[in-house]
Amino acid sequence: MDAFGLLAEHLEEAQRVLESAMTVRPRCAVILGTGLGAVADAMTVHGRLDYAAVPHHPVSTVESHQGRYLWGTWAGVDILAMQGRFHLYEGYSPQDVAFPIRLMARLGITVLILSNAAGGLNPLFRPGDLMLITDHMNFTGTNPLVGPNVDLLGPRFPDMSEPYSRRLQEIARQEALRTGILLREGVYAGVLGPSMETAAETRFLRAAGADAVGMSTVMEVIAAVHAGLKVLGISVISNVNRPDCYEPVPLEQVIRTASASGPLLMTLLERALPKISLIAQGKSSDGKNPV
Ligand code: HPA
Repeated sequence: MDAFGLLAEHLEEAQRVLESAMTVRPRCAVILGTGLGAVADAMTVHGRLDYAAVPHHPVSTVESHQGRYLWGTWAGVDILAMQGRFHLYEGYSPQDVAFPIRLMARLGITVLILSNAAGGLNPLFRPGDLMLITDHMNFTGTNPLVGPNVDLLGPRFPDMSEPYSRRLQEIARQEALRTGILLREGVYAGVLGPSMETAAETRFLRAAGADAVGMSTVMEVIAAVHAGLKVLGISVISNVNRPDCYEPVPLEQVIRTASASGPLLMTLLERALPKISLIAQGKSSDGKNPV
């Protein structure tokens, strides 16, 4: 069997184990990035499974990192959460990073919510702002879809005209307005890391049209779009990088600022989730089935 037939088989085995453990059948999944960790406390958790217990699943190499699936309900919506994610800079392959996303698709997930901490490039942004991701640029130099396509997973050349669902973006905008939360918007540039950008790279990324830069998300989104999932992405702007008066970005500041904005992001998602859930069930956000 070739490597890609093997991938399909691995996904099936992983699906069997996670599916038989799960007590809910969620359609929405959330990846708890920096700033969203507290979701695990906000949701009513029905069960957990360590990544290590899921066959063929990548596992977290950093001991302090929890790596597990949680399922339960949040804001009245059944949800699957990933606590701990995989970054290319840790040495995971693009296929490793994509594995959980493909697994989610097999489990019946139709909407994926991603959060991350990102460096602001748009000079109007302030540390602590939330940014709705409207589009991305993949500057990692790689792609999870490289290699023979597994037609069962998705198409050879997936369309990328709407990687971040416009309907989900609209829901996030409306709920932000209703709740009085300032929601910036912009383009996320995904880089490999782990070194931070130089001033020259920062200037380049801004000139290229990016509003924020980070080291996660794009592999996951590409795999999600390939698998037919709808995506909502929100960045917490943990720092703002100005190439002409460039300053170091201490990791503690990134974590502190992102965590401080976590509750804001949680509030926004909590308000938006019932409407997101309708989209996940194939209904329009006013509850009607689209004609
Ligand atoms: N650059 C890249 N990744 C990041 C940054 C940054 O400035 N801040 C948080 N993640």
